[in-house]
Parts: sequence; C-alpha cells; structure tokens
Amino acid sequence: MHRLAKLDLAYVWHPFTQMRDWLQREPIVITSGRGARLRDVHGREYLDANASIWTNLHGHRHPNINAAIRRQLGSLAHSSALGFANEPASLLAEQLVRVANPRRAAPRSAAAPAVAQTVLRNPRLPKVFFSDDGSTALEVAIKQAYEFARRTGHSRRPRFLSLAGAYHGDTVGAVSVGHIDLFHKTYGSLLFKSDAVMAPFCYRCPFNRARPERADAREYRRCHWECVAKVEQRFDAQRRRDNPYAAMIVEPRMQGSAGMVPQPDGWLRQVAAIVRGHGAQLIADEVMTGLGRTNDPASGLLFACHHEGVQPDFLALAKGLTGGYLPMAATLTTQAVFDAFLGDYAEFKTFFHGHSFTGNQLGAAAALANLELLRGATSVKTRRRLAAALRASLASLWDLPNVGDIRQVGLVVGVELVRDWRTRAPFDLRDRVGIRVCEAMARRGVLTRPIGNVIVLMPPYCTTPAQAEQIVAVLRAGIVETLGGAG
Ligand SMILES: Cc1ncc(COP(=O)(O)O)c(C=O)c1O
Repeated sequence: MHRLAKLDLAYVWHPFTQMRDWLQREPIVITSGRGARLRDVHGREYLDANASIWTNLHGHRHPNINAAIRRQLGSLAHSSALGFANEPASLLAEQLVRVANPRRAAPRSAAAPAVAQTVLRNPRLPKVFFSDDGSTALEVAIKQAYEFARRTGHSRRPRFLSLAGAYHGDTVGAVSVGHIDLFHKTYGSLLFKSDAVMAPFCYRCPFNRARPERADAREYRRCHWECVAKVEQRFDAQRRRDNPYAAMIVEPRMQGSAGMVPQPDGWLRQVAAIVRGHGAQLIADEVMTGLGRTNDPASGLLFACHHEGVQPDFLALAKGLTGGYLPMAATLTTQAVFDAFLGDYAEFKTFFHGHSFTGNQLGAAAALANLELLRGATSVKTRRRLAAALRASLASLWDLPNVGDIRQVGLVVGVELVRDWRTRAPFDLRDRVGIRVCEAMARRGVLTRPIGNVIVLMPPYCTTPAQAEQIVAVLRAGIVETLGGAG
C-alpha cells in the first residue's frame, strides 16, 4: 500500500463516509490533475465525472485560474474583511452583481420567459456577503431573512419552508432547513423548526398518473400541478396561524443531494409567484445549480432561477464560484434586506456574522478568473457541446432494465437505478447498489459518487464529447457488472 494511503487510513476521518468500509481497502490517493482528468499516486488516470464533488468548472490546473492565483500571491494571500476592504473582493462583488442581474435574459418562450429588464444602476440583488462554503452561504441567507422578517414586522417568530428531500449544507442552520432523514434526523433536537413541502419529483410523484416510460418522467407526466397547489396550501395554512413564512428556500431547476430531482418547466415560476404573493422572501440555493451548470449556454445566463425568469431575494453561491479551486461563497441580496440592518451604531442593528476568511483575496482572484472564463466564447461552445454529447450518450442506457429514470438538466445528470423500470421498485439502500456501481466505474477509470441509488454525472465543462461518451460507456459497464445486462 502506498505510504500516503497508509497515512490517510491511520489519521483521516472522511466526510459522509462509513469509515469501517473505508478502512477495508487502499484509498485512491489523488496527486494531480489536468482538464477533466485526475491522476493517483500509482499513476492511474481517471475522468473526474462529478467535478470533484460538483465544484470544478473549467477543468483542473486551468492556466488562467492558476495564473490569477499566482498573480494574487505576488501581492497578498489574505487580509481581513473585518475592518478592511481589498481589491479582488471589491472587483468580484461588482462582477457578481453584474451576472446576477442580467440586462438581457433567456430568449422569450412559454417555458422560459425573459427576466424583467434590469438596469445595472438599479439591480435587484445589489449586495454581496462573502463567506466560505455552501453551508455558510445558506446560513447567511437564513439569518438575514430571519431578521428581515422580524424587523419589517412580517413575522414575529420567522419560520422557513423548504422542499422535501432538501439538502442545503451541514451547519446547524442549513441542516434545519434540510429534510433528508438519514442526514438530519439525528440532530433534530439541535435544530430550529422548519417545514417541508412536496418537491416536484415527477418520477416518484404520487399524483403522476402516467405509467413509466423509457424517457425522463417530466416529459410524460400526467398531473394537475398538485405539487404547486401543495406549496400554496402550506403558505395559506401558515398565514392562518398568524405567522406567515419568512422565506422559502429552493434549489432552482434541480435538487441535487435529494437525488438529482429536476423540476418541470414552469414549477419555479409558479412557486415564486406564491412566495411573493405571501410577502415572503425567496432564497435560491444555487450552490450546485449556478454558474452555468444548468443553463442553456446560448442564453448567456449563469443561474438556474433566471432560466424561468425568476429573480430571488437571496442568491447563495459556492462550489464553482472559484472554478472549484478554493473555498469561497457569496450570498447576494436586495437593497431592502441590506437597509434593514442599517442604523445608528448604538441601535446594534449590525449583521453580527462573519468568518475569518470572508472575502479572501486568493479565492476572489480565482473567482474573477472563473467568471471571465464563463463569459468567454470557448466556455459557451464547450458547455453546449458537452450537454449535447451527454444527452446523446445517455439515451443508450434506456435498454438496461435497472435504469428507471435519466434526469439531465444542462450539465447535471442523475441516473436512477431501480429493481425493475416497469414498477419503479427501488433498491434497499443497504444493498449499496449506487456505491457498488461507482466502485465498478472507478476500476474502469471514471470517478463519481452516488446519491443512494442515483448515479451522478457532473463533469467539468472542459470534458470533451469523446470523454463524455467514455463516462457513459463506463457507467453502463458498471451497471451491467453490478446488476446484470440489458433486458
Ligand atoms: C445545494 C447545496 N447547498 C449547499 C451545500 C453545502 O455546500 P458545502 O458542502 O460547500 O458546505 C451543498 C453541498 O453539496 C449543496 O449541494
């Protein structure tokens, strides 16, 4: 066993990992990477099919991001945002406000109406609060929304609504608005109370009267938008209790850790109208969906909510913000929220929250380089090409009887494995089907991580069509090895 693997087994406790299983075998120790590839200590190469847990956008060791970090290192790695401003953080905040308030939005269509024209002198999300990761980006949004609801008199005991199956991070506030029992139940007594409402999960929706087909369930669903009615009912019920919801938190277009659960077009728009109608705030968790992951590259949009013409009151970003290089997050919000924290010093209306590395220069420099790449013609072309290549290759999986649903939104894919596609009967989690398929894929040179029985594909944008084909072929081989062949 490699020396570094031994050290890992001796000392490191890995996240979301049953360490007893981990300790049974030599771990893959990653030493380097380039583009979509990673290399381990034995010189084996892998395709990074989940972009290093959904963070990497343009590939590893991208020359522009490397250069930006090196340049910044030449002047300073870090100074505190408590009491001081700095150059890259100021520039980044300006750029984030620019991309979060697009002047021109998606081409107008029934499914994706244009975002209201927004002039940059009067953007709807003009303020940026920096933090460190997805959880803290959500923590900031939750705390600001909480206090905003109290200070404006909207709610005395602010309460939050989020989607069934939601995951918004692992800090206590973010866990409080999460609804994955496996992760969250243990900490129940530590958490503040929040409510869950039905998620629009067409494949497993009790209101979808369609029988399973060999297509994405959103395409053949037969329903009456009962999931939207449930949101309305929740808001109405909470208002009758004389304590309207302060905010609703959603991952627009696709819930990630819930199992790559995509929303049918139109869901977000209808839900946003309900939230607004009840005077609540809309918190968009775009930690996974944002920065070009889920948008049509030709639209020029970078955030999932804009695809539906929805502008939230809070936009939480992390993961890909630095291109997947450094931990940095941002929570964008409105002037109204910002103003609710203004006052004479002695009123103590300050937002008493912050982290040592808030606005870190290296992270901000990487993020600026990332945004520049995202706006470039090359990125638009490669994202478009990759989405098409994935779509074409994935179609080949429908002949496998254990493939129940293939869910793709832009460059995010979830392939749900089931006992039999005709019944949608799920595998017991204890069978570790997703884990076993991913282990079989790793042996064939493709790295990803499952969510239960859902295999996630979320490659870096620089992944070539040939590499995308290889990823899907390896997924197929992994499924066949684990569960048997085509039916
Ligand atoms: C949608 C979403 N929100 C928040 C988080 C938490 O981000 P982090 O792991 O950076 O704290 C994640 C992480 O997977 C996520 O997918």
